Parts: sequence; structure tokens; C-alpha cells
Amino acid sequence: MMKIAPSILAADFANLGQAVEQVDQAGCDLIHLDIMDGHFVPALTFGPGMVKALRSHSDKLFDCHLMMAEPEKWLADFVEAGADLISVHVEACANLPEVIKKIKSFGVKAGVVLNPETPVSFIEAVLPEVDLVIQMTVIPGAGGQAFIMETLDKIDQLVTLRHTKKLKFLIEVDGGINAKTARICREHQVDVVVAGSSVYQSENLVSAIQALR
Ligand code: DX5
Ligand code: ZN
Repeated sequence: MMKIAPSILAADFANLGQAVEQVDQAGCDLIHLDIMDGHFVPALTFGPGMVKALRSHSDKLFDCHLMMAEPEKWLADFVEAGADLISVHVEACANLPEVIKKIKSFGVKAGVVLNPETPVSFIEAVLPEVDLVIQMTVIPGAGGQAFIMETLDKIDQLVTLRHTKKLKFLIEVDGGINAKTARICREHQVDVVVAGSSVYQSENLVSAIQALR
């Protein structure tokens, strides 16, 4: 069954603890935390201090998506804050294999993220080392954008590579996920979908999460 990772980016920032509890109780699988640094992406969100403060509000896996330059400088802080899974952008890493190795050295799961226009070939060498690949299905930096259909081709490439190389990484997609695009993702063998707006803008979080599954 496809896993659901609500992104609290779309929740009320004055009540993030409650936002985490709500999706936890509504049956989500992971909690997706969008870290933006005002540099790799223009917007700013929050850092490890917020992740740490939210940790006591749910036991679900914390899926930290680092949209930041030089993420290696912050890995220890996110681990200490309680991240279970840390994903870094290939576009932000001068030495991606080293960064992946460093994440795993802390005993947490490691992911790599691809922007919509970044070729899958850029991450091929690290695929045997990662637990997760996040394919961005919108330009990172903001919630509420439309799913870019052209990215489906790259999802198919990832599925094929995983099969031919006998690898085990999960495929997560991030951006523009609603009941309709989640269904398309499921048909393309995606394992995890991230959803911000479609979850937090709905009246009933339980049915919103069920609709995505
Ligand atoms: C975009 C973030 C996404 C975003 C998804 O930069 O990485 O996680 O919150 O939001 P929606 O579901 O609104 O596209
Ligand atoms: Zn994200």
C-alpha cells in the first residue's frame, strides 16, 4: 500500500504541534518536514529547533526534506532533533556520496532529492547507497503548485533502474499531490506521496488521507 507523508508546510504555523498530532491520529505513515534556507530556495521555513519541538507530538517517522545549500553542515543537528530520514538535494551537494555516507553514519536513513528538471543519471551512482529517492513533482520552494506531469518519465526511469540493478530504495514524490495525482503515482509504482495542501486544506483529515491512498 502506498504510504502517505503529510507536509506541515501547508498547516497553521502557529499550531504545528497540533498539526502533527492531527495527521498522526488521521493515520498518516510519515511526517514530512520541509526545511528551506532562503538560499537554495528563496523561502525560509524552520530548522532543527522546530523539528526537535515537534518530536514529542508524534512517534511517526520524521521525513526531513532539506532544501538547503551545504546540508552537510546541519546533519548532526537534524539527527539530534529526532529526524528518522534525511534527504538532501543532489543539486545542493558538491560531494553527494560523502553527504549520503555522513547521514548513514548517524544511524538514520538517507535520501536524495531530484528537482523536476534534474536528470536521473545525476544520482545513479548513489542509488545502491540510499534508502529513498524523492522525485520533486513541483519546483521546490512553495506548497500549492500543480503536479508537473513530465516528471512521470523520471519516476518510470527510477522504477526501471531499481528493478534492473536489484536495488531496494523507496520512491517518494513531492508536490501537487491530490487524490487524482496520487492515483497516477500509484499506477507508476510510487511508494510514498507527500501532500501538503490537499491534506491540510481539507475539512476531514481522515478522509483526505484515505482518498490519497
Ligand atoms: C515544496 C515542498 C513540498 C510541499 C508540498 O517545496 O517540498 O513538500 O510542501 O506541498 P503541496 O502538497 O501543497 O504541493
Ligand atoms: Zn518536501
